Amino acid sequence: MDNDSVRQYLWRADFELGIPLIDDQHRVLVKMINEAQHRLSGDASAAELSEIVNGLLSYADYHFGTEERYAVEYGYDRAHCAAYEEHVGEHRAFARDVTDVARRLAAGEAIEAAGLLAFLQRWLTDHILEVDRRIGDFVGAQG
Ligand SMILES: [Fe+2]
Repeated sequence: MDNDSVRQYLWRADFELGIPLIDDQHRVLVKMINEAQHRLSGDASAAELSEIVNGLLSYADYHFGTEERYAVEYGYDRAHCAAYEEHVGEHRAFARDVTDVARRLAAGEAIEAAGLLAFLQRWLTDHILEVDRRIGDFVGAQG
């Protein structure tokens, strides 16, 4: 991985949704991706990459479950059916894509760490800023 791609992935003020439970979990995800970047900046073995990918996948799964239960608890799924379905669809697509990476790693396929990290950063940033934000706005509007 070249030096340009070892840019830190840091928490941004606009990631904050105002929902402490979800914000805290997003902070953990940002921290995990940042740590993965540091660990993979040298020569990473496939085993190390697998460990990181599996760790991220299981935390992301746990986090998606929290977010979806929260959305249902606050009635977001009923007030915004299509948006909620799209939201859950993004979670499922992420899990499917990252599970596929884990499967390819387990099969001995070479995965480029920089590309994978860039994908994770981009996905999490876009998802928090656009899709997760809608839940924050919805709950915020209810006071
Ligand atoms: Fe989400």
